[in-house]
Amino acid sequence: MMRKNNKLINEEEITKQLRSLASLIHKHNKLYHQKDKPEISDKDFDKLIKENNDLERKFPHLILENSPNKFVGGYPSKKFKKIIHKLPMLSLANAFNKNDVEDFIVRVRKFLNIDNNEKIEFMCEPKIDGLSINLDYQDGVLKSASTRGDGKIGENVTKNIKTIVGIPSRLVEKNHPKQIEIRGEIFLNKKDFIRLNKKLNEKNKFSNPRNAAAGSLRQLDSNVTKQRPLKFLAHGIGESTKKYITISEFYEDLKKWKIPSNNLIKICDSFNSMIDYFENLKKIRNTIQYDMDGIVYKVDSLKLQRRLGFIGKNPRWAIALKFSAEKAFTTIKKIDFQVGRTGAITPVARLSEVNIGGVIISNATLHNFDEIKKKDIREGDTVEIQRAGDVIPQVLKVVKKEKNRKKITKPPLFCPVCGGKTIKEKDETVIRCANTVSCDAQKLGELIHFVSKKNLNIEGLGEKQINQFYKLGFIKNFEDIFYINRYKKIILDLEGWGELSFQNLIKSIEKSKSIALDKFIFSLGIRYLGETLSSLVAKEFLTIDAFINSSMDKERLFNIDGLGPIVINSIYDYMQKKENLQTVLNLSKILNIVNFKKPKSHNIFSNKNVVFTGTLSILSREEAKYLAVQLGAKISSSVTSKTDYVIVGKNPGSKAKKAKELGISILSEDDWIKKTSS
Ligand code: IVH
Repeated sequence: MMRKNNKLINEEEITKQLRSLASLIHKHNKLYHQKDKPEISDKDFDKLIKENNDLERKFPHLILENSPNKFVGGYPSKKFKKIIHKLPMLSLANAFNKNDVEDFIVRVRKFLNIDNNEKIEFMCEPKIDGLSINLDYQDGVLKSASTRGDGKIGENVTKNIKTIVGIPSRLVEKNHPKQIEIRGEIFLNKKDFIRLNKKLNEKNKFSNPRNAAAGSLRQLDSNVTKQRPLKFLAHGIGESTKKYITISEFYEDLKKWKIPSNNLIKICDSFNSMIDYFENLKKIRNTIQYDMDGIVYKVDSLKLQRRLGFIGKNPRWAIALKFSAEKAFTTIKKIDFQVGRTGAITPVARLSEVNIGGVIISNATLHNFDEIKKKDIREGDTVEIQRAGDVIPQVLKVVKKEKNRKKITKPPLFCPVCGGKTIKEKDETVIRCANTVSCDAQKLGELIHFVSKKNLNIEGLGEKQINQFYKLGFIKNFEDIFYINRYKKIILDLEGWGELSFQNLIKSIEKSKSIALDKFIFSLGIRYLGETLSSLVAKEFLTIDAFINSSMDKERLFNIDGLGPIVINSIYDYMQKKENLQTVLNLSKILNIVNFKKPKSHNIFSNKNVVFTGTLSILSREEAKYLAVQLGAKISSSVTSKTDYVIVGKNPGSKAKKAKELGISILSEDDWIKKTSS
């Protein structure tokens, strides 16, 4: 009896313990997964799990209905689901002065072949410093909302967007299109930003209203988003079943549907009126509730917008004129050197902290050593610094020299990180560390570039973690990342790591293994090979095997349209190095490198060689060529037996004659326009 009683008491206590553990684990799981705000370390959390599991193992008959183990995987993931944009979300090209705006207007006119008597209307709007969002309404109901992401794929933030007061879940009027994507800006008013920051503890404070808006929207718990007074103002259309004639017409509809749009917009049809608009807005900028970083000029006609199309990631039909940067004075405590992934050594000014427009600045770039000399900037001096948008703050000029001036900072003869010799290449202003084999700063830079958002996008493996693993010798090259599991035991004992965060890292690494060929090529960090050129290379080779084989063939590289000799030599040199080639070969086995997919096109011009000759009268030469490229044609300047079509304008010269002799199809400008739109 006694024994039985003892057992009873014991079991009651165990159940109590299991209950309290379940509730604690549930609470901390929520704080970690949903609120992004853990209150205990991963290690302490793991201890709770272990305690619970030990008890469950010993007393399986006491396992609770709501045991934390029954919840495994039931918590929403740390990440948002992804949405592929039906139409890419692009960004605006910048103008920094009035001349740039004038050039923009001239470019638009020239491209459209519009003479000076004909007016073009421009929609002028404030450029709000927030984050862009795409709202997809189907049958008048908000079906999804996504962030811009990388422009092609965004994050599904529908649940959070639905908590924003100004965004209707349903369009009130009946006359809405069957489907329409409304694009706009999510932001926080300046006052609300200050109010929010006051409530947050030091660690969680945001540096500016835009970051605060982004942080508030990207909450895993939509109840947190709901408490933040986020605002929305529409500024564009994505895909729509209604074909609008102008942006103005679209904005009229928005009013009817009770979608907030900007009341500071204005239609202007001349350069002078566009500049007046800018000056007026600049004057009232401080009285506006939200942060503006400039204004946007857009061609109002959507028909003309479609004709103007895009250059790279920017529409040809719009430009942002930025307000000039905000400035402040401070002193230089020290001048340091930073070594980048390409070995470039940049002098950096360590400053006495200063607040510019709500952002605390403690470092500024000095660009290069010629600049230090030219501006005679020395440690201890009082300087004027400037910060514009997202760019790194820069030192403009010395405003007060220190009394006992220090010597001017000279370019280091040796790399401050590896001690290797530094060099200055011909025609370059930058000083580089010549040790491309074993400079830690370059290696770290390459690794950070490889895992960054634009490349493998491994969440949980940022600069801090790469530094930590590099120092410990766990990650020395790209391949090591995929074998990090080997060090699990040691990593779990490291500061900042626990079972949960490590498992999340492993998941991110696994996910990153599937990568498009263009991203993979960019991730290698080959000098001069940026994102756009990497796409060109991928487009040419289509598969990783073809890239490996052909990038060692210089002649083949020279055949790629759009690649200059500097980039070609750089790709060639990179692949000639045994260790680089081995890395690419190893990665091609570890990763699933997805072949570059050529867009399917079913028009008569795709992959055809096209030559233009004579004066075109309807289209500008630029627009005609742009149309050809859009259709997948290749443009050549001379007629050869390989030419498929010659498009002739007025007064065609010898090219038309040669085409006739060779029996090549000749099209008039009219024929060309008809065939391109059929
Ligand atoms: S129109 C092709 N209008 O600025 C993109 N954008 O780099 C056309 N923005 O990501 C955008 N205010 O989020 C447009 N009145 C406005 C804007 C605006 C802010 C943002 C937008 C975009 C970025 C452009």
